[in-house]
Amino acid sequence: MELFEKVGDLKSRLNEISANGKTVGFVPTMGALHLGHISLVKQCVLENDYCVVSIFVNPTQFNDPKDLKNYPRFLENDLALLKETNCQIIFAPPESEIYPEPDNRVFPLGELETVMEGKQRPGHFQGVAKVVSRLFDIVKPYRAYFGEKDYQQIAIIRRMLEITGQPVEIISCPILREPDGLALSSRNMLLTPKHRQQASLIGKTLLEARNKANEMSVKELSEWVVKQINASPLLEVEYFELANAKTLMPIDQWHSDEPAVGCIAVKAGEVRLIDNVKFDSK
Ligand code: PAJ
Repeated sequence: MELFEKVGDLKSRLNEISANGKTVGFVPTMGALHLGHISLVKQCVLENDYCVVSIFVNPTQFNDPKDLKNYPRFLENDLALLKETNCQIIFAPPESEIYPEPDNRVFPLGELETVMEGKQRPGHFQGVAKVVSRLFDIVKPYRAYFGEKDYQQIAIIRRMLEITGQPVEIISCPILREPDGLALSSRNMLLTPKHRQQASLIGKTLLEARNKANEMSVKELSEWVVKQINASPLLEVEYFELANAKTLMPIDQWHSDEPAVGCIAVKAGEVRLIDNVKFDSK
């Protein structure tokens, strides 16, 4: 496994690889890796000649400075986990390598930026689009792997590619959960033991909601989900939105030919958790 910190060094190595006609797959991360990240890396290793993983806590996507400061950073541990996956290349740059000067681009992300995470975290997706397009420019992957845990982020990346025209195939990968239903997240380690215990209610409720969709209207189901989770004194739903799974625009009734997705953000003490569940078309 090779570790690069400088864009120039990584690019020279990747030039050798592409000159040999090998395919490169890419998994962008912000580190503090867990088995959810590792599932993406494993798929990338399987499907490409070379797998590149980036570890970069991207300041431009944090709308809350406290969140950026508290974001967990464990490079040594990350490298040990990655070694087990047979991925060949790690890119862990300092900020000056990604942003040698401020990136003032504004991506016309459209309506996607006005709902759910876009609405709650102003500027967040502009930061994601900036860093991912910059990383794609550096790595020039054939395929890139993203988790459905960040469902709206995948839609943003696809939109970003329409804007930039970068030729990258996006592979979306399923959410990995703890045995009690909590979606794996780097932020889970910031939960107090009590909040961690209660947080399982989020995933459990979403999975149960799938079974209730046949018997409830969109409005009833939304209210049910919020009530279930807010029943815990340690959890507070910020939003739960049922949306068209493709466009991510809110729906007010089920459609027989279009799948829906239910996306949620919940405050568990100081920690903000997101999760989602897909509903098949009826
Ligand atoms: P990060 O939160 O580190 O996540 C990196 C990738 O791992 C994302 O594609 C995310 O959806 C995926 N992931 C996280 N938890 C997962 C889970 N439980 N199951 C499956 N996949 C999971 O997302 C980011 O970083 C950043 O926004 C980034 C794209 C790297 C840009 O900075």
